[in-house]
Amino acid sequence: MSGQRVCVSDFEEEARKILPKAVYDYYRSGADGQNTLADNVAAFNRWYLIPRVLRDVSTVDLTVSVLGQKLSMPLCVGATAMQRMAHPAGETATARACKAAGTGMMLSSWATSTIEEVMSAMTVSPGSGGVLWLQLYIYKDRQLTLSLVHRAEKVGYKAIFVTVDTPYLGKRLDDVRNRFKMPPHLSMSNFSTASLAFSEDNYGSDSGLAVYVTNAIEPALSWDDITWLKKHTRLPVIVKGVLNGEDAVQAVNYGVSGILVSNHGARQLDGVPATLDVLEEVVKAVQGRCDVFVDGGVRRGTDVLKALALGAKAIFIGRPVLWGLACQGEEGVIELLELLKDELRLAMALSGCCSVSEVSSSLVRRVGFNSRM
Ligand SMILES: Cc1cc2nc3c(=O)[nH]c(=O)nc-3n(C[C@H](O)[C@H](O)[C@H](O)COP(=O)(O)O)c2cc1C
Repeated sequence: MSGQRVCVSDFEEEARKILPKAVYDYYRSGADGQNTLADNVAAFNRWYLIPRVLRDVSTVDLTVSVLGQKLSMPLCVGATAMQRMAHPAGETATARACKAAGTGMMLSSWATSTIEEVMSAMTVSPGSGGVLWLQLYIYKDRQLTLSLVHRAEKVGYKAIFVTVDTPYLGKRLDDVRNRFKMPPHLSMSNFSTASLAFSEDNYGSDSGLAVYVTNAIEPALSWDDITWLKKHTRLPVIVKGVLNGEDAVQAVNYGVSGILVSNHGARQLDGVPATLDVLEEVVKAVQGRCDVFVDGGVRRGTDVLKALALGAKAIFIGRPVLWGLACQGEEGVIELLELLKDELRLAMALSGCCSVSEVSSSLVRRVGFNSRM
């Protein structure tokens, strides 16, 4: 019930009761032993906030510019596949909610709504904010891949986030046990054949999505594909899924506009570090030559603040949006985004920061260390 949800985990608890088990399992799961899944969240507790006082925090400005677009806050919605499993309006509801909250949404290649319908949902809904970016999986079929990019360009998406951590799908045990596949009334709407739309009947005894990825997604992806992609689009290209300084430098050398530090919500390789723990390394390696973003385990306004202090330009959330959608569709996602916005505003005020540009590394100290960064 609305009014009783006072933090992100309240949304999850309610969503768990609403969603069919196989859907909840697909949304919630991490890979293998799910050590990284827990660590993504726990990492935020390894940093203290060191507030400053007597700084007149009567007004706090959360606005930022991300990839050239003005947003109401440095918190954006990351790509999560198949949102109509959470609510009949799926990605179109999320897009409307992002517009209402004045923030950006990254649409998954595996959306259950088309690139065009999500853009028109955002365009016609009330509100003055809102921006859409496309998350891109590179398919073995390169013409098909480029058609997604060009469709997004045509209707006004502002950037391409190319996912580079999924040459194969990570092993998510619940999805294997559930033989996860899409409910029959849904499909990956951007594709016209049953095999590409993930609407075949029989994927054997494995996770249907793992079989889909093995069949369709390019496992031979290499840095040259970033050059290839940049050549075919005028939109900024951001690599999603970088976890160390060496790859970050390589990405900069290949001319990306941004790096999203991500372990895919701990759904790919279990045992990798929490994203917050590698953020500093990536920020240092990049030396301001492109924007650095982060996602993974962000559940509170204080988490957003810590990631900003460690150098992220903006922060993305995945699962919390699915819980908001499941609870109450568009209204649920608006409520969730406004809740996190309020939490961030309060955290900034209590830290003595009046604007995002005042957030710096001096605001955080690693637990167990005596000096600040
Ligand atoms: C259910 C689900 C579906 C996802 N689908 C995609 C996807 O289609 N493409 C992609 O690049 N990342 C996908 N991700 C990863 C998210 O973009 C993001 O990296 C991750 O969810 C962030 O972690 P969080 O869920 O802890 O906030 C998905 C994550 C979840 C939980």
